[in-house]
Amino acid sequence: MKKISFFSGLFFSLLLLFMFFIFCGTAFAQVSSYYGGITPSQGCMVCHADNELEANGKSLYIDEGAYKESVHKNVLCSECHIGFFINLPHPDTKGDPLRVASLICKDCHKDVYDEYKNSAHGKAALMGKADSASCADCHGSHYIKSLKNEETKEELWANAEEVCGSCHEDYWESYSDYYHGQPYKVGFRKAPTCWECHDYHNILPEDNPNSLISDANLYKTCGNCHPGSTKEFADGYGPSIHGLQKGFEENIVLKWLRGLFSWFPW
Ligand code: HEC
Ligand code: HEC
Ligand code: HEC
Ligand code: HEC
Ligand code: HEC
Ligand code: HEC
Ligand code: HEC
Repeated sequence: MKKISFFSGLFFSLLLLFMFFIFCGTAFAQVSSYYGGITPSQGCMVCHADNELEANGKSLYIDEGAYKESVHKNVLCSECHIGFFINLPHPDTKGDPLRVASLICKDCHKDVYDEYKNSAHGKAALMGKADSASCADCHGSHYIKSLKNEETKEELWANAEEVCGSCHEDYWESYSDYYHGQPYKVGFRKAPTCWECHDYHNILPEDNPNSLISDANLYKTCGNCHPGSTKEFADGYGPSIHGLQKGFEENIVLKWLRGLFSWFPW
């Protein structure tokens, strides 16, 4: 009798202890996911891994497999989506929370941000111009790949139509000169992508003296690929690079013709 009650006592104490740990564990997990602590991204994925989740006709699905292959696999959802927790409704912030996320990158990429904030895009975006390029407009959001890997860097190199052309459709189209634009568009690796002439984080308009295409700098920019490049060389051929564009902007008849025959591969 005594023996049994000793063992059952021990058994129940152990069971209680065990249950206590389980309880603490679950409570901790819940609290930590609630507060964006240890497993918060899993907390978000309870809903966002559902490929049918949408609001206002826009998909809110996040592909977990692809996210885990991205360079931000260890970054928490809530580090870009500041103020978002696993409870609904999500915060009702002033301004567009997705635009905030597309610029929040500055918190971790300070060096890049320091350049970007003075660029044509950065200045405009930070003043609230929603059509200017944010970090995420050029890089994407959830599935960003490492650029230390040659293959993904090459992929980006070849993607100028989307990276720049999605907004500068006109300059994408007019980038079609015989020596640079046309060979780039058919994948000739030595031809320049947009940011080999314009830079990428420090893009500035032509009339800014620090721009890579300013009067003072253009010949140096060409010189990266054309050793011995001079001002005459740059000024002579430079305008032909987007020549078609300039032609259309300045020549009313051409502009009208292009509109009329828009099916023609101008
Ligand atoms: C209980 C389900 C659920 C959980 C958990 C959840 N979400 Fe959501 N999320 C939704 C729904 C539903 C919407 C659309 C309605 C809304 O915006 O409130 C949404 C919308 C969003 C949006 C788009 C907001 C916008 O303005 O377009 C973001 C970003 C987002 N969630 C991020 C997160 C993050 C980050 C977490 C984790 C910290 C998370 N969600 C957890 C269900 C959830
Ligand atoms: C590196 C920053 C970053 C991280 C980390 C991140 N997001 Fe986002 N997320 C963004 C940006 C930027 C947008 C806006 C994209 C746009 O406007 O096209 C966005 C948009 C969204 C949206 C709206 C739908 C969409 O795809 O545009 C949802 C939902 C969302 N994020 C959920 C999550 C969840 C869940 C996680 C974690 C698994 C997460 N995000 C991690 C930056 C991030
Ligand atoms: C106009 C498009 C554009 C914008 C805006 C932009 N980037 Fe980039 N970024 C690029 C391109 C293109 C590269 C790769 C260039 C190369 O081949 O080395 C790059 C490279 C990077 C790299 C790799 C390191 C480096 O400096 O080369 C990081 C990190 C980065 N960007 C983060 C950001 C962040 C953070 C922001 C916003 C503050 C931002 N980018 C804004 C186009 C852009
Ligand atoms: C919470 C911190 C954090 C935030 C916020 C964040 N990143 Fe990152 N990012 C990182 C870390 C960490 C790495 C990996 C660095 C490495 O591998 O050297 C990285 C890597 C990158 C790379 C690849 C750089 C390379 O040289 O391979 C790019 C591009 C990038 N981030 C862009 C962005 C963009 C765009 C945003 C905003 C939408 C953003 N990041 C937001 C922390 C962050
Ligand atoms: C999300 C849209 C968007 C993307 C993506 C984008 N740009 Fe822009 N870009 C703009 C807007 C808007 C301005 C004008 C900003 C202002 O108000 O000064 C601008 C300005 C510029 C300028 C300065 C001249 C001017 O017209 O003001 C150059 C050069 C430029 N972009 C080149 C590029 C290149 C190269 C890329 C790709 C690496 C790129 N942009 C990606 C929207 C974009
Ligand atoms: C070989 C160098 C070179 C390449 C590559 C190049 N550009 Fe240009 N770009 C120039 C020069 C030079 C000018 C100034 C003369 C002009 O406007 O035609 C210019 C002008 C521009 C402007 C107007 C700048 C201003 O201040 O008004 C934009 C926007 C632009 N380019 C976008 C692009 C885009 C987008 C691509 C890729 C599809 C691209 N460029 C590729 C050399 C280049
Ligand atoms: C990223 C590299 C790169 C940049 C930057 C570049 N080019 Fe070129 N360029 C080439 C390639 C590749 C060819 C075609 C092969 C060849 O003839 O060398 C070419 C050919 C030419 C040609 C015809 C052949 C020749 O060598 O005379 C001219 C003219 C020219 N480029 C002018 C310019 C001017 C002006 C600039 C600056 C606005 C410029 N390029 C910037 C790569 C570049």
